[in-house]
Amino acid sequence: MAYISPALNVMIAAARMAGKPLIRDLGELENLQVSMKGPADFVTNADRRTEKILIDELTRVRPGYGFLAEESGAIEGKDKTHRFIIDPIDGTTNFMHGIPHFAISIALEREGHIVTALVYNPATDEMFVAEKGHGAFLNNKRIRVAARKTLASSLIGTGFPFHGHAEDRHARMLAELAAVMPITAGVRRNGAASLDLAYVAAGRFDAFWERGLAPWDVAAGILLVKEAQGVVSDLSGGPNMLDSGSILAANDPLHPQMLKALKSAK
Ligand code: IPD
Ligand code: CA
Ligand code: CA
Repeated sequence: MAYISPALNVMIAAARMAGKPLIRDLGELENLQVSMKGPADFVTNADRRTEKILIDELTRVRPGYGFLAEESGAIEGKDKTHRFIIDPIDGTTNFMHGIPHFAISIALEREGHIVTALVYNPATDEMFVAEKGHGAFLNNKRIRVAARKTLASSLIGTGFPFHGHAEDRHARMLAELAAVMPITAGVRRNGAASLDLAYVAAGRFDAFWERGLAPWDVAAGILLVKEAQGVVSDLSGGPNMLDSGSILAANDPLHPQMLKALKSAK
């Protein structure tokens, strides 16, 4: 059984409440696209609605806590020691294409440290949670990072830059792929960084790396991986994942091997 603090309880309730309408949207995507003048508008509305439900619900039970949320930005709270970091829909492109791989991501930060994490995919009803010092869980079952020791047998997750990103980002990604593809069992681009990290925590991916991410993409996933006995760093091997936007998550033996491979990418 997962250890569920009062704060995590509140986060779970908010995520379930905000997740329900997303399932309905997913089933009616064609209608919604037509009636909403295009997928981008629709997604924007779904993003905003989800975020509003989360902020309203979390504020109701934790008045005073601040927020850093993708669509609303930073919201100062009276309580300067706590803030929620929220991505209402991580994997928007998947969502608008009807691909059931997206997540609500919520992290609770206390005095600058992430202490509680939740990544919830409403489409599969998979709820990943972690509490600092109490382990990581998927639907109430304890999860751990994979035990594989060699890259040759490892499945690796990543995220590619896309239209609108600078040319050098694309070039760097291709170089990193060129370094990683031939020495691993496979590379996946699933399209939701929070779930990529949750998959590392659950031992589905052996490692995950990406650049150019925002704090709300990774805040919850970082704690999930750590509490699942994994190792997380930025891509220079340091601890600045939230500020640098670059991240590498893996188990203990694979982390240095991946870091070396990625550093060798030219
Ligand atoms: C995106 C997803 C994607 C990653 C992008 C993110 P969004 O978040 O996590 O996997 O590659 O960099 O921006 O826009 O769907 O919330
Ligand atoms: Ca995101
Ligand atoms: Ca988002």
